Amino acid sequence: MVGDFLTLKKRGVNYIARCPFHNEKTPSFNVNPVRNIYKCFGCGKGGDSVSFVMEHEKLTYPEALRYLAKKYNIEIEEIYNRDIEEEKKLENERESLYVVNAYAQKYFTETLLNTDEGRSIGLSYFKERGLTDEIINKFQLGYAPDRRTAFTDTAIKEGYNLDYLVKAGLTIRPESNPDSNIQNPASGCFDRFAGRIMFPIHNITGRVIGFGGRALKKDIKAKYVNSPESEIYHKSNVLYGMNIARKAISNEDNCYLVEGYMDVISMHIVGIENVVASSGTSLTVEQIRIIKRYTSNITIMYDGDPAGIKASFRGIDMILEEGLNVRVVLFPEGDDPDSYSRKHSESEVKSFINGNKTDFIRFKAQLLYQDAKNDPIKKSELIRQIVESIALMPNAINRTVFIQECSKIMKMDEQSLLTELNKTLRRRFAKNADNAQYDDYITIDNPPVPQPVDSNRDTSEHNEKEIIRLLLNYGEKSIQMKTEETDADGHVKTEVETIIVARFIVENLLVDNINFEHDIYRKIFDAYSGEAVPTLEHFIHHEDKEISTTAIDLTTFPYFLSDWKKKQGIEVQKEEDILKVAVEFAIYSFKLKKLMQMISQTQKELENATSDDDILDLMTKKKNLDHAKNAFSKELGWVVLR
Ligand code: CTP
Ligand code: MN
Repeated sequence: MVGDFLTLKKRGVNYIARCPFHNEKTPSFNVNPVRNIYKCFGCGKGGDSVSFVMEHEKLTYPEALRYLAKKYNIEIEEIYNRDIEEEKKLENERESLYVVNAYAQKYFTETLLNTDEGRSIGLSYFKERGLTDEIINKFQLGYAPDRRTAFTDTAIKEGYNLDYLVKAGLTIRPESNPDSNIQNPASGCFDRFAGRIMFPIHNITGRVIGFGGRALKKDIKAKYVNSPESEIYHKSNVLYGMNIARKAISNEDNCYLVEGYMDVISMHIVGIENVVASSGTSLTVEQIRIIKRYTSNITIMYDGDPAGIKASFRGIDMILEEGLNVRVVLFPEGDDPDSYSRKHSESEVKSFINGNKTDFIRFKAQLLYQDAKNDPIKKSELIRQIVESIALMPNAINRTVFIQECSKIMKMDEQSLLTELNKTLRRRFAKNADNAQYDDYITIDNPPVPQPVDSNRDTSEHNEKEIIRLLLNYGEKSIQMKTEETDADGHVKTEVETIIVARFIVENLLVDNINFEHDIYRKIFDAYSGEAVPTLEHFIHHEDKEISTTAIDLTTFPYFLSDWKKKQGIEVQKEEDILKVAVEFAIYSFKLKKLMQMISQTQKELENATSDDDILDLMTKKKNLDHAKNAFSKELGWVVLR
């Protein structure tokens, strides 16, 4: 299901992808198809298919259920209450907008292909610009008759509702419209797009959500007229061509970004399909995030106008900030992708693009360096600007590479660029303290692993979490324990006992009265303290949301036991012994942590103690605790500092 939205790669039993909910380069979004859950180890979001759809499509719970039900042809019985009525109304309205837009698209295409006016004006224009029937069909292009109410009249005759025609922006209803004219409520209304060639704009699933209409007469003021925003058309969330391009973008692992409708279409004519346009609006973060679902590489195609290029730098910084790689193809002055591709053959276009792809930062540095190289003030401003861009990259390695590049291009000392970079980073960091994305965001290659006992941390959260992780993942498994018994004659008798992991952990902790400090872990632990070992399902589908979230968090494997071995640096030969060692390690680490807490508590009391008796008691206590700590540490094989 999630695969409808993301490019998933198989890894082990799970699938991974770049997380759609936060900014990342290395995939840390895990999908477990068996349990039907997902979890991102970068941003922490996790849940089941309903919560995925809610989050991803920004739907409410009932909307998400209905969405899934519709998609998979599941009947759902709705219990009506006011909320759902409200939802239904909105949903019906959206659906109606889709319906009128779909009708309009068919009407415009019909007019283009099958009327004299459409053919002689619209179709001949398209043909002149090199569009084939196939391309016209692929983009569902059309033509709107050059009469004030031609479309609206026909639509109403066909039974479409005037209100929706207006809401979809196909029909304009003037403020002064005499709505009261009951006989003809549409009187005074007129077509938005009359006399224009029509570019339907589609959402990702290919439904028409709006239109761009281009004037053909030179003297018309607005070259383009576009549909207004509506319940289904949010300009900042839409990329023209994405419905056709997304597979190609994913396959090529690159997305070309161009300016206009015609540029997208021209690229398709020469066989390049991984291309979209932001169309009229300047690029938005939402648009970048849509691209990011399919690739982390964007290549911007520019016409060679230096002023325009410089104006776009801010927008491109946004792409860097999202952690994507940006490249630039600069067309010769006066050409855009469309005009260039009409003058050259398919292979020439492709080799031009490949030969002129430049990394954005390098491109920016080169361009600005031309202006600045002989002017020290400009040059320092340039350095600041470039470093600002580099500092936006979330990945430290990329930043370093670019600093090296720029030092070459600008003939600047690398170290001083680095110093400047660090200053910028620190400033940003200070401004935005919760900006955790710099370097410390977790990727699957750097998974959260149980840490060795860290004497500097005084909470046992980590230890508790590891215990619960083992319980949830392996609680029902069994391990073999050696038990040694010394009989009356002093002979040591060794027996091998098979024991359930959950039993072993619970008994070992209860016997020493080890307490969980964290409510959520205590709750889960308590569930294991009864006779029967609870199943993982019990927690995943728990009514307590916190419990189910924690269970999902800890069981969507960010690492396997074999990784655990590697990370802990523990030598275990046999695979089946790893579990045993991991369990013992977790138990002893937890106990050790508790001991250390007691030691520092005793130490504090000792510092405040006044009577000799108290001091003596406390010292004895501390000595015993220290002793136990050393014994434990030895058992663990860890040298515990302090
Ligand atoms: N645009 C717009 N409104 C305008 C001008 C432009 O919405 N008044 C948007 C359109 O999405 C257009 C893009 O900006 O596709 C680029 O504009 P331009 O280069 O002028 O248009 P082209 O599509 O390239 O048109 P043509 O090549 O036919 O001149
Ligand atoms: Mn153009």
